[in-house]
Amino acid sequence: MVFPVPEAWAERAHMDAAGYEAAWKRVQADPEGFWKEVAGRLDWIKAPTKIKDVSYAKEDFHIRWFEDGVLNVSANCLDRHLPTRADDVAFIWEGDNPAQSRKITYREAHEEVCRMANVLKSRGVAKGDRVTIYLPMIPEAAYAMLACARIGAVHSVVFGGFSPDSLAGRIQDCDSRLVITADEGLRGGKVVPLMRNVAAALEDCPGVDTVLVVSRTGADVPMKAGRDIPYGPERAAAGVDCAPEPMNAEDPLFILYTSGSTGKPKGVLHTTGGYAVWASWTHELVFDYRPGEIYWCTADVGWVTGHSYIVYGPLANAATSVIFEGVPNYPTSSRFWEVIDKHQVEIFYTAPTALRALMREGEAPVQRTSRKSLRLLGSVGEPINPEAWLWYHRVVGEGRCPIVDTWWQTETGACLVSPLPGATALKPGSATKPLPGVYLQLVDAEGKVLDGATSGNLCITDSWPGQMRTVYGDHQRFFDTYFSTYPGKYFTGDGCRRDEDGYYWITGRVDDVINVSGHRMGTAEIESALVGHHDVAEAAVVGFPHDIKGQGIYAYVTLKADVQPTENLRKDLVLWVRQEIGPFAAPDAIQWAPGLPKTRSGKIMRRILRKVAENDLGNLGDTSTLADPAVVDDLVKNRIGR
Ligand code: WT7
Repeated sequence: MVFPVPEAWAERAHMDAAGYEAAWKRVQADPEGFWKEVAGRLDWIKAPTKIKDVSYAKEDFHIRWFEDGVLNVSANCLDRHLPTRADDVAFIWEGDNPAQSRKITYREAHEEVCRMANVLKSRGVAKGDRVTIYLPMIPEAAYAMLACARIGAVHSVVFGGFSPDSLAGRIQDCDSRLVITADEGLRGGKVVPLMRNVAAALEDCPGVDTVLVVSRTGADVPMKAGRDIPYGPERAAAGVDCAPEPMNAEDPLFILYTSGSTGKPKGVLHTTGGYAVWASWTHELVFDYRPGEIYWCTADVGWVTGHSYIVYGPLANAATSVIFEGVPNYPTSSRFWEVIDKHQVEIFYTAPTALRALMREGEAPVQRTSRKSLRLLGSVGEPINPEAWLWYHRVVGEGRCPIVDTWWQTETGACLVSPLPGATALKPGSATKPLPGVYLQLVDAEGKVLDGATSGNLCITDSWPGQMRTVYGDHQRFFDTYFSTYPGKYFTGDGCRRDEDGYYWITGRVDDVINVSGHRMGTAEIESALVGHHDVAEAAVVGFPHDIKGQGIYAYVTLKADVQPTENLRKDLVLWVRQEIGPFAAPDAIQWAPGLPKTRSGKIMRRILRKVAENDLGNLGDTSTLADPAVVDDLVKNRIGR
């Protein structure tokens, strides 16, 4: 099934089909000239003359873009729009409670960011220092990011759903001295005890000397004298001007922690010039964005989607960006569509998991809203199944809105594979084609390059400006994780099919990373939380297909010898993981496993565990190399039916 490019889109688009072909020809013929021109979309204090210097080779590994350029991202997102667009709306904030919303102009956003930047400075934060941001979806979250960017501090945003332990680990890893949080958050009518979580986390973070506490609910939360400082009075006293710090293109902009197949979460580090170019260019191309259009990305700023497509990309493009505090089904499952009507949203960008949950409620909650303002729909975070795609297109978009299914990763900074609304015919379930200058390759397990219509592991053979530059504090891990599996290439960790038209269909992770409702997690992290419980001897976690969440979490748990498996213990373990990592990491199924399938050398055969969890019992494969093949019979017999 193919949906052709609507004529009106081809006519208005920044890049139509011919433009896409032409861009590909130019980037191949003259990459330096091409990227120099793309970089020219930003305001540089000193324009770059060195454009690209990259080697993925082990001996000479480095990635540098625009390296002699100087700029400030906050000035690009705010100051440069002031002469002509100071009264345009930068942010529309929509509260969890539908009665609360607010518009913030570029002039106001500039002032707020300067105030917060001045407060940070007055507390001793300087260029290069790390600042941890643990805030709900309120405008201050965006101000905090831009305030850091303004003074050259490196922000690390931690999603408000993370536990005190997870927060502490992230604060320690990047050695933040200052944390910005709120008294409480509000989500779906429920209170999120942010300050309480910070207080608990900081018991293990002696390096933090200052916590700025934004008042969201006004609740009375415990404040430690000398350390915890209400932001309100500081803001009121702060100056409304703060000169943006000139930053080198390769100076760090932010760290964002993400899960891998092994070990603790990695601090993905993005730098200033390349990231800002990539976020802004892709936001304009993929959403065919023009200033004045109302644009809404429903992500949380705690994830990379919120960084690139709520804050940096849109603001660099003088957009009006909606910041939504709430959830899709509160107060009712019409909420998304009501907000679209209320603010006349034209471009709407959300995740398949939200669509699948709303689909389950039927069409009525959608139909009772107008949605006439909508022109373009987007999807991100996980593969979108054709059924959800078609529902999104037919019911939400009433058949008139193209859908851009955007594939990318925390590591890639912003989008790499996506249709362009005026250039690309759509196939439901396919992220379609790479953006100009993004060189995809499919390889088999041994690294042999696969041509034509085929399936394999998705690699990228050359750099793009928005690529991450290192794992904070562990450059070796950066190389080992992404560039050692297939030498000379960036390995994405995703499996992918390419069809006869050269369209790409991402099939999901091929490593031990799982994607649960768009939340990326390492199975190793959940295992390590489980074995931290005093009754657990061993645990193995795998993903299984889940109708709403995309993937669910299936845990096999071996208890200590004297412990009885009970329903209460099962509940206790679910609660334990919620507390250790965060509510979204709660296992969907826990199976008691007297033994785990291991090879004679002691390696757990996860393939078998996945097959049992998926109920694909006819395909268990060769079990003869197991130390104790009988273990498998027990696993199959006691499989949780769910
Ligand atoms: C992983 C990256 C993209 C930013 C938010 C998630 C999966 C993401 C798609 C898509 C199929 C997708 C991949 C990827 N993914 N977008 N359109 N189609 N899969 O970023 O948390 O770093 O996760 O999300 O598996 O590797 P992330």
